[in-house]
Amino acid sequence: MPALGLGTWKSSDDDVERAVREALEVGYRHIDCASIYGNEAAVGRALGAAFRAGDVSRDQVWITTKLWNDSHDPEHVRPALERSLGDLGLDYLDLYLMHWPIAMKHGIRRPTSPSDILPPEAIPIESTWDAMTALPATGLSRAVGVSNFSLAKIHRLHASLGRAPAVNQVEMHPLLQQPRLVEGCRVLGVALTAYSPLGSRDSAPIFGRRDDVILLEHPTVLDIAQRHGATPAQVLIAWSLARQIAVIPKSTHSERIRENFAAQSLVLTDDDRIALGWLDRHHRYIDGNGFFKGTAHTYESLWDEPATTAFERRDTERLIPLPPLRDPV
Ligand code: A2P
Repeated sequence: MPALGLGTWKSSDDDVERAVREALEVGYRHIDCASIYGNEAAVGRALGAAFRAGDVSRDQVWITTKLWNDSHDPEHVRPALERSLGDLGLDYLDLYLMHWPIAMKHGIRRPTSPSDILPPEAIPIESTWDAMTALPATGLSRAVGVSNFSLAKIHRLHASLGRAPAVNQVEMHPLLQQPRLVEGCRVLGVALTAYSPLGSRDSAPIFGRRDDVILLEHPTVLDIAQRHGATPAQVLIAWSLARQIAVIPKSTHSERIRENFAAQSLVLTDDDRIALGWLDRHHRYIDGNGFFKGTAHTYESLWDEPATTAFERRDTERLIPLPPLRDPV
C-alpha cells in the first residue's frame, strides 16, 4: 500500500473528480474512498479519465473503499462491495474496510433515530468479518481490513477466525498517537493508516464541534515547519510517514494536494519527533458520539477505553501548548 494517499471524505463530486485527477498527475498512487462519502461515482469518473488518458494504469493505483454500517449482515457484504465497484468503475479493489464496528439497519445511510443503530450483539463484528474474509478469494478485493477498531476488537477478530485485518484505518496525529494500538497492530502484522492527520478542520461544522486545539496552528508544529522551510501540513504528514504509518490527508485544492505530496521528502530530526511526541493527549476529533445517544453503544464500548481520556479533558483543556499527559514514546 503506498504510504501516502488522498483522502476524499467531505469532498463534493465536482471537487473530488478534479482532486483525484490532479493527485494522480502529481504522483499519488493511493486513493481512499468510502461508500458513505457519497462520491464514489465522481472518484470513478476521475479514475476512468486517468486510465483512458494513460496517466496511470489500474495496477499502479491502490484503491481503498469501505463497507457502510448498514451492510454488516453477512449477506449484504458482497452486494455492498459490488455496488462500490460499480460506482468506482472498477473490477476489483485493493482494500475493503469495515468502516465502523457498529451496525445499522439495512438501508440507513445517516441515522436519524436511535433505533436505526443496532445493538452490538445484533450483528457481531465477527460475523461481518467472517463474510469480509471470503472476499479476496472472489477477486473483488485483494485485501480486507477494518477502520475505527480498538486493539481489543482487532484481537477479537483475530481470536475468532485466526485472521487479522490487513489494515486498521484510524484517526492518528500528534494529539492522538495511540502507542499501544500501534505496537499491538505491529505484533499482529496489521498495517495502520492515519485518517484526519491534519486535524480534520472541515469536519468541525459537520459535527457541531468546537476545536480547542487546532493542530495545523499548534506552536510546536509551526516551529518545526519554520525551521525546515516546510508547511505545518507537511510536518504532520512527515511525522506519520516517519512512524511507518500510511497517511491520507484530504484536500480539494491543487496547491495543497501538491504540498501534501511533497511532504514525503521532508525528513524530521530526532528532536522534531521528540517535540511532537510530547503533544500526545489522546484527543479524538472524531469520537463517534453520533452513534451513542439513546443507543446501546457508548464511548467506552466503541473505543474500549474510559471516556475520561477524551471527553472530560476536552472541557478543561483550553490552552496551547498543553502539559503532556504522559512520556512520549
Ligand atoms: P481543503 O480540502 O479545503 O484543502 P484531514 O485530512 O486531517 O481531515 O484534513 C483535511 C482538512 O485540512 C481540510 O479542511 C483541508 O482543506 C485541509 N487541508 C488539507 N491540506 C492542507 C494543507 N496543506 N494546508 C492547510 N490545510 C489543508
